[in-house]
Amino acid sequence: MKIINTPEEMQRQALEWRKSGKKIGLVPTMGFLHDGHMSLIDRARPECDILIVSIFVNPTQFGPNEDLDKYPRDFKRDCEQCEAHKVDCIFAPAPEVMYAPDHSTWVVEEKLSRPLCGKSRPIHFRGVATVVTKLFNLTQAEVAVFGRKDAQQALIIKRMVRDLNMPIEIIVAPLVRDTDLVAMSSRNRYLSESERKSAQVISRSLLSAEDELRRNGIKDIEELILKIKTAITSAGGRIDYVEALDGYNLEPLTGKSSSVLLAVAAYFGTTRLIDNVLVDF
Ligand code: PAF
Repeated sequence: MKIINTPEEMQRQALEWRKSGKKIGLVPTMGFLHDGHMSLIDRARPECDILIVSIFVNPTQFGPNEDLDKYPRDFKRDCEQCEAHKVDCIFAPAPEVMYAPDHSTWVVEEKLSRPLCGKSRPIHFRGVATVVTKLFNLTQAEVAVFGRKDAQQALIIKRMVRDLNMPIEIIVAPLVRDTDLVAMSSRNRYLSESERKSAQVISRSLLSAEDELRRNGIKDIEELILKIKTAITSAGGRIDYVEALDGYNLEPLTGKSSSVLLAVAAYFGTTRLIDNVLVDF
């Protein structure tokens, strides 16, 4: 497995692979890999000849009071896991080589980025769209896999690829839950044992709402949202949002919506967790 640390070397190597007819696949990550990431890697593996995993804690998607400095890192373990899952190349640049000191070009998606996480993290998706564009250019990937855990991010990336005619296929892989049903996330590492136990309320209340949505459609959606909010607050969580939006365009639900994204962001202690269910009718 190759480890590449500079954008120049990554692009040079990728162009060489492309020239020799290889199809390149990319799984973009911020490292501290868990089984959720490994499921994206396993999904990508059969789609390409050369599989690249990028490991880059992207500073431009963190707000000033967010967890950039304490974001968990374990590069050695990440490498071992990638090797075991037959990854061909890890691209792990330092922030200084990814962003020039006078970097001033951004990719901004202007619609899907507004609701949900976009409200409380106003620069987040601009940072994501910009770094993902850079990663696509550097790796020359023809296919990339993102997780549905970050459902809004996945929709934004798909929209960006469509709107900017990027020659890449985006695959969205299922959300992976731990044995206690908590959605897998590198940020789960921040939770104390008791916070982790309390945080189970997010997935449990979402999954029970999913059942009701499948049975009864969206007619009781406001009641379902209220139930989730009450359950989270009673368990000691602080809600950022609990919202149900159209699963295709993140607009308010209408009688015509054929897909519902029910999404939650909530704090347990100082840790902000997100989770969602997607129900297609
Ligand atoms: O989902 C993530 O881990 C990040 O937002 C991504 C896509 C790697 C961009 O930094």
